[in-house]
Amino acid sequence: MADKTAKLRIDEQEYELPILSPTHGPEVLDIRKLYGQADVFTYDPGFTSTASCDSTITYIDGDKGELWYRGYPIEQLAAKSNYLEVCFLLLYGELPTAEQMTDFQNRITRHTMVHEQMHNFFRGFRRDAHPMATMVGVVGAMSAFYHDSTDISDPWQREVASIRLIAKLPTIAAMAYKYSIGQPFVYPQNELDYASNFLNMCFSVPAEKYNVDPALARAMDRIFTLHADHEQNASTSTVRLAGSSGANPFACIAAGIACLWGPAHGGANQACLEMLRQIGTVDRIPEYIARAKDKDDPFRLMGFGHRVYKNFDPRAKVMKESADEVLDLLGVADNPTLQVAKELERIALEDEYFVSKKLYPNVDFYSGIILEAMGFPTSMFTPIFALSRTVGWIAQWKEMIADPQNKIGRPRQLYVGSGKRDYIDLSAR
Ligand code: SDX
Repeated sequence: MADKTAKLRIDEQEYELPILSPTHGPEVLDIRKLYGQADVFTYDPGFTSTASCDSTITYIDGDKGELWYRGYPIEQLAAKSNYLEVCFLLLYGELPTAEQMTDFQNRITRHTMVHEQMHNFFRGFRRDAHPMATMVGVVGAMSAFYHDSTDISDPWQREVASIRLIAKLPTIAAMAYKYSIGQPFVYPQNELDYASNFLNMCFSVPAEKYNVDPALARAMDRIFTLHADHEQNASTSTVRLAGSSGANPFACIAAGIACLWGPAHGGANQACLEMLRQIGTVDRIPEYIARAKDKDDPFRLMGFGHRVYKNFDPRAKVMKESADEVLDLLGVADNPTLQVAKELERIALEDEYFVSKKLYPNVDFYSGIILEAMGFPTSMFTPIFALSRTVGWIAQWKEMIADPQNKIGRPRQLYVGSGKRDYIDLSAR
């Protein structure tokens, strides 16, 4: 793909580096041979200017605030598609025909139950364990049960593991929730759609009939779609790096869940709602805006800012509309947390600090408000992000495994430690 080159001069030596062309987005400087030619590393902590792979799955334009899954804009998919159809699109690259969708839906539906013995895993956790801790443990332990889909060299086993993970993550997330509140696990119901099934597994109890509100199920499904994939973010890069060693898919997804948990990443939805609650009322917003701008104060506006988006996160726009719809539907449109969020957004977007640093609300800014209104505790916000992102992690993992260039990821470093020195016996120290 190199139709032009860049010249790099180090001392008296000049090196030519191929420039690779994308279908969309920035060109890339191919430095794969640089260390061998020039005996130098490139240096990019946090990978702010580094492309780790080539991919055909998701495209983000941070300046325009655009997000495409396989070329389809997220706004259109959120409005017209549904999560399982988006799963098919992310996994196989094209929107399914009606027949393909029926087959895919049936395959997912038939894998939603977990091995009955896995129920025992939950009982090893304290009831007050964070559901993300439970999910990391139980998803990783799937490799102890599903041995027939851990051989990554077998395309069929990769496919079975993919279906199992997409199908079972909602069941495991719901079980983590039920365990944390001391209620019995609820089995999946095959006649329910994906989002309705998740809501039923979370909120129904054996003691009475539970009817899923179709409007809430639609909102839940839209939240799943908005979180499904996002290029080479921290947790996806974690899954790719774990997968590059040949680790089984369940271990790789457990690694992705662990990384997503951090408050700078998927944990921001929980941190954001807790921040909004801490602010409490609109009149206290200026105090927190000042703290967010104070270099000496570690406080940051959770749900604001993004490594890539230097414009509105398109997902935040859809989420904001959905928040209005859901809270209106639930008769809590005057929800004080939503009022604080909207006023905080308005004030921040007029403040020079946020404008100059191009800090906009991200996907995590409004999602927590919707989830709280739907009845989820803040501890379930990131597990919901994790179950939504599982398809993106899998699609990226499958793409990497199938890539003929695939090799184990192994970055180098700028060593600034001690020079070689001899051991000093304890008696001489
Ligand atoms: C997700 O990568 C993805 O795609 C992730 C994700 C996905 O779908 O996978 O989109 C999901 O993780 C969304 C982000 C959720 N995180 C948060 O909402 C936490 C709050 N945001 C920040 O921690 C921060 O904005 C990050 C982590 C999201 C991005 O950090 P960067 O790219 O490393 O940017 P930075 O920390 O270098 O910030 C640049 C400047 C700094 O000021 P200066 O040092 O230049 O003076 O902006 C400031 C920061 O101090 N800044 C903030 C801020 N975010 C950045 N100041 C106040 N509040 C904030 N939220």
